[in-house]
Order: sequence, then structure tokens, then C-alpha cells
Amino acid sequence: MDLNNKIEKIGIVFAMKGEALATIHHFNLERINGNYPVELYGNAENKIVVSLNGTCSFTGVDNVGTQAATLNTYVLINEVNPDIVINAGTAGGFAHSGAKIGDVYIGTNRVVYHDRRIPLPKFDEYGIGNYGLINTDYLAKQIGIKQGIISTGNSLDYVDRDLQLMKMSNASLKDMEAASVAWVCQLLNKAFIPIKSVTDMVDGGIPTEVEFKANFNLATKNLNLKLIQLIDFIYQKTMEEIVSPEK
Ligand code: ADE
Repeated sequence: MDLNNKIEKIGIVFAMKGEALATIHHFNLERINGNYPVELYGNAENKIVVSLNGTCSFTGVDNVGTQAATLNTYVLINEVNPDIVINAGTAGGFAHSGAKIGDVYIGTNRVVYHDRRIPLPKFDEYGIGNYGLINTDYLAKQIGIKQGIISTGNSLDYVDRDLQLMKMSNASLKDMEAASVAWVCQLLNKAFIPIKSVTDMVDGGIPTEVEFKANFNLATKNLNLKLIQLIDFIYQKTMEEIVSPEK
């Protein structure tokens, strides 16, 4: 996107419907077409479109994880062509990096994977991913949220090697979608921002699924408040204005 063009269309990728409902209601979004399992919700002229991974036809649960998020992001961009893509959702946080339950983070630096372990020359690097996102320093200050590196994998829990890789990447957050959304944005040349709220502490000693369920409502409420603030702030601004306004 040209740095001087205004952001007129915003696409927001969510994995779970429960994470997205408050934003869908706030902007009065209605179901528009969406192929495959992907569900698109838009307002007039699709200025703001929420795109869900959709549900699994066998189990009825949300299609969480990277394969559905990749498809979701592709369908969103193909059908709506937003100026910018936000990936919103919940994540595990690392106490050692200062994360607390209910905190909302905007991504910074790069987005990486921790469960694509391929110990072959160059493939090891490929596995980590290291995808780009926009500079979020100014946005973090304006919205009043923390910044952190997000690491993505396909499991809610982790094995020791995942933890080592997340430490090596300096991750503050562990999620199941951001890197795959970032990859599609990189391929299709779309600006990308991840925003995540913390449901559980990865290094806290309590089983993830227990904390996830206990804190889902709080984290989702905080996520939607900050996401709506973020959307209102970037809408009709130029990339230049949201990335480097001091210049
Ligand atoms: N979403 C919420 N908590 C998570 C965790 N610990 N790992 C991956 N995704 C998550």
C-alpha cells in the first residue's frame, strides 16, 4: 500500500466466533458471502470486515490453528481486498516477560513459528518463518497497549523444544494463527497488525486449558475494547500517519 493512501477498508481475521462477537455487534456487521468454512461479516461497502475461520463440520468447534487461518486470510483478501489486515485473538503470555492475564498486546518486530522444527540447512530458518508486520510503536502508545513478539504453533500446550524456540525468539505471546496470517499478508502484499489478549500464562504452572476457559471472557472483553479503539484510530488515516507520525 502507498504510504500516503488512506486506510479505507480494514479486514480483521479471528479464529473463534466468541472472540469476535463484540466487534461484530459494535460495528453492526452483517454476514456477507464467504466461501469454504470462512465466515465474512461486513458493514456498508465493506469498510470494516470481520472474517472468521468458521466451524468444523465434523465436530462443530471453531477451526482454530494455522491451516484455517491461512485459508481465512486468503479468502478475506481475495473477496474484500482490505487496505490492512488485523489478526485479533487470544494468546498465552509469558510471566517472565511481564505478561498478565487480560493484558492486550500489539505485535512488534516479527512473527514466528515455534513448532515447525526442520533441522536441515535453510529449512530450519524457513520453519521459524520470521514474517513482517507494520511498525507498531506509535499505535501501541496511542491505544495504550503493550508490545510483544508473537510465536505461533498448532497446539494449545507445548513440548520442551517449543519452549526453547519461543525463548530463542524472545516471544512474549504464544498463539495459534498470527504467523500464518502474516505469511499470507506477506505473499499478497498487505499491511499486517496482530493484536492479542492473554488468557493463560505459558510459564505459570496451571494447565493451559483450565486457565484458558476461566479467563476467556475477561481476555475477550479487553481484546474487543482495544481492537475497536485501534480500528477507530487507523480508519481514514494514512499508513504514514499510523507508522511514523513524528516525521
Ligand atoms: N490461545 C490462548 N492461549 C493460548 C496458548 N497458551 N497457546 C496457543 N494459543 C492460545
